[in-house]
Amino acid sequence: MKNKILAPSLLSADFSQLAQALKQIELNNGGAVHIDVMDGSFVPEITYGQPVVRSIRPLTSLPFDVHLMVEHPETQVDSFIQAGADWITFHHEACVHSHRLIQYIQSKGKKAGVAIVPSTPVSAIAEILEYADIILVMTVNPGWGGQVLIPSCVKKIAELNKLREERGYKYLISVDGGINPTTISSVIDAGVDVIVSGSAFFSGELKL
Ligand code: DX5
Ligand code: ZN
Repeated sequence: MKNKILAPSLLSADFSQLAQALKQIELNNGGAVHIDVMDGSFVPEITYGQPVVRSIRPLTSLPFDVHLMVEHPETQVDSFIQAGADWITFHHEACVHSHRLIQYIQSKGKKAGVAIVPSTPVSAIAEILEYADIILVMTVNPGWGGQVLIPSCVKKIAELNKLREERGYKYLISVDGGINPTTISSVIDAGVDVIVSGSAFFSGELKL
């Protein structure tokens, strides 16, 4: 699909074969590698952190799209940048000083993203929309791959698209959770730019 960026999520890859997973992403039109970082507190499970990012960094030149599902993301940003992150998305729900963190990430020459969970409306981040490089709309509750997309979240993509047009904002709209061959058309119609896919991509179901 023209002008859309596919960002496959390593969460659904075989963790013993990450080099192979990166090859698969490159060979199947991946435009970025989505890396889900979970801390066992903001979300129940723990995935991987900076050492893993650092060790796979030399294996691809694709941008690393790091999705921080962690409390106190501001304490993690520097070390993820050092490890090789290109885009850093943190959760609005985990950060009081979102505006400051966006500016800090951008001052390091990286793209700054803000994610919202299904229960957070777009209006909650209205004051930072003009500053962000990416708004990530979660269409499942964060924490696990392979869940079913929550249809009511899709309208947030359309709302962000409309606001961007009306006000000249620059952010990319990213969607994460439950994207598969059946649900993808709804998010494309709503105006998404970046499509994150874990289970459907690594099962070979979803191609772009
Ligand atoms: C969920 C993660 C997602 C996950 C998506 O908390 O943020 O990136 O990998 O997986 P699928 O595409 O299987 O819903
Ligand atoms: Zn994610």
